[in-house]
Amino acid sequence: MDVAVFSTRSYDRTFLEAANAKGGNRHDLRFFEASLSLQTVSLARRSAAVCCFVNDHLDRPVIEALCQIGVRLVVLRCAGFNNVDLKAAEAAGICVARIPAYSPEAIAEHTLALILCLNRKIHRAYVRVREGNFALDGLLGFNLATRTVGIIGTGKIGGALVKILSGLGCRIVAHDPYPDSSLASAGVEYLSLEDLFAAADIISLHCPLTPETHHMIDRAALASLRDGVMLINTSRGAVVDTRAVIEGLKSGKIGSLGLDVYEEEGDLFFRDLSGQTLQDDIFARLLTFHNVLITGHQGFFTQEAVEAIADVTIENVTAFETCGRAAYPIGPERIA
Ligand code: NAI
Repeated sequence: MDVAVFSTRSYDRTFLEAANAKGGNRHDLRFFEASLSLQTVSLARRSAAVCCFVNDHLDRPVIEALCQIGVRLVVLRCAGFNNVDLKAAEAAGICVARIPAYSPEAIAEHTLALILCLNRKIHRAYVRVREGNFALDGLLGFNLATRTVGIIGTGKIGGALVKILSGLGCRIVAHDPYPDSSLASAGVEYLSLEDLFAAADIISLHCPLTPETHHMIDRAALASLRDGVMLINTSRGAVVDTRAVIEGLKSGKIGSLGLDVYEEEGDLFFRDLSGQTLQDDIFARLLTFHNVLITGHQGFFTQEAVEAIADVTIENVTAFETCGRAAYPIGPERIA
């Protein structure tokens, strides 16, 4: 099958070509660095499938344009699908497939890295020591054992984080419309969102971006959080209202902030902009806080996870080509 791969970076190419080779280079992969948009959709003219990532915008006009040029399959190299108009895809007869679970531990471990780094101020200590400053002032942390961590969304990634944090002796409270009984039996306390906000010293977001979770952490939510709370977001940027969070940082309501995702990351992440002037003033303001740690959507970026993403992507394409149905299609139950 001819597949147009959008938003390609060198590692995507390496891992996808290796996965394709395992099946005898069955598919004709054509790699484009550009992200998919109305301006770039014509690059897929010869292709029956497009392969996309988190910041490719598959809104209705793009889906209709894909349909017109004969694309029948969209394979996402990610778990989230908030960037795809599923209704438009269904109407156009385009199958959308994704990677339901490639390595939840990768994102859970990155979440832990953000928590530990912010708590023990490793990012500041690293710079200080290199400059010969061995003073400890301003580097005081707290023991994670005995602290309460609030996990919002206890699916695959939230569940993996529960296992890690349990080992550190944290009290774990959680909120999810579909509580996991095995986690509850293991000691996780499921609470209403309001009660979680009031109880947690650290809040970590692991829910998908949906109309219900959009700006879940807004000005009103911030008012009900504990003073000095640590907020971690590795889910999707728009679950957090960035402007409200900046106010929370300025007032001290938020004690530290760890982000792997950002509302407007599409214009920034996954490329080297170091030679350019940063145009996003909100993002630039975030970078001024010493208690904010931002990574550029790298939670998934481990050898195991990237290999699994490539393997399942090829599996989706092969299954669609051989039996007309991708291995992991996004079913009608997900189409609101
Ligand atoms: P999952 O589908 O296994 O779990 C999501 C959980 O969130 C489910 O248990 C669901 O019931 C819950 N949920 C839904 N609505 C909620 C709400 N209003 N409040 C609280 N919980 C709610 O998904 P998984 O694999 O754990 O991924 C979670 C999210 O992590 C993805 O949707 C994606 O946005 C993000 N992600 C980020 C990555 C990164 O590199 N930073 C990589 C992979 C995923």
